[in-house]
Amino acid sequence: MLPKIENVRAEALEALQAATDADELERLRVRYLGRKGVVAEIMAEMRGLPPEEKPAVGRAANELKQAITDLLKKKKSGVSAAPAGRKVAFDFSLPGRRPERGRLHPITRTIDSIKDIFIRLGFSVAVGPEVETNYHNFEALNIPLDHPSRDAFDTFYLRDDVLLRSQTSTVQIRVMEHQPPPVRVIAPGKVFRPDTVDASHMFLFHQIEGLMVDEGVTLADLKYVLYEFARTFYDRDVKMRFRPHFFPFTEPSVEVDIGCFICEAKGCSVCSQKGWLEILGAGMVDPSVFEAVGYDPERYTGFAFGMGVERIAMLKHGIDDIRLFLENDLRFLAQF
Ligand code: DAH
Repeated sequence: MLPKIENVRAEALEALQAATDADELERLRVRYLGRKGVVAEIMAEMRGLPPEEKPAVGRAANELKQAITDLLKKKKSGVSAAPAGRKVAFDFSLPGRRPERGRLHPITRTIDSIKDIFIRLGFSVAVGPEVETNYHNFEALNIPLDHPSRDAFDTFYLRDDVLLRSQTSTVQIRVMEHQPPPVRVIAPGKVFRPDTVDASHMFLFHQIEGLMVDEGVTLADLKYVLYEFARTFYDRDVKMRFRPHFFPFTEPSVEVDIGCFICEAKGCSVCSQKGWLEILGAGMVDPSVFEAVGYDPERYTGFAFGMGVERIAMLKHGIDDIRLFLENDLRFLAQF
């Protein structure tokens, strides 16, 4: 029996040495010292031995029990939270553990840096509700009920007259309802559209609306402001072009492109070989919008623009799938 005890001892001590947490130590304690454990088994077997063998085997068995008990005790004070003071080894030479720090979402950061640029250009920041009335989302913006352009702003309705806003242009109306000219605001926020989700469409995204109204505001002012914005935001000298377009709330309306800075306007997959990247829609505020809010269209003119924040951020950082912004994948988010 002596070789058997020796084997058990070697095996038990090795297992205990290797154990790294309290649960595992407890499992080993039960296995070796428990009522039906290995040591108890040896003691029972011993009873059947001839009397002359008993003393030596008994001593070995007791030593085995003692050795396991001692090592268990030593290991326990090492792995537990151990208030046992001096016995706990604390290795001062180990590097510290940094707590993980949170950070702002890339969309928030993009909105913040766009805000900074416009604040320096003399704009202030306005906000409006995400749950809107039909009137603010459509009618006041010169989009009548039966107008086909409503299709372009396909919308989540909550009730007949209440919806999740499909554009931040609503905030233009809310600002003008509450203050007389001059106006110079931007309005960032969420918008909602029942689009089928793919790499470039999401049912929820962000826009930043801009509005400037005063006497004598012209398209030249719009060009200057947008050019300053693009140059500052993309941090390089950009080429910009204005293409005629149609929006119900502006006349004339334009879509604004910047020269693709990825291929230096030669044509690549990001700009679909066009050399140009569309960054926003804009135009001169339609007189009927001024009439809806009680501004005198004979006296005042203004420009408005609206940009998609996700798209602008994707262009800046070379991101090719809009869904990444909402998936909450830390491998993506931690890069910003
Ligand atoms: N609201 C438009 C959209 O969601 C974007 C837009 C275009 C806003 C032209 C404007 C503008 O203020 O003048 O597609």
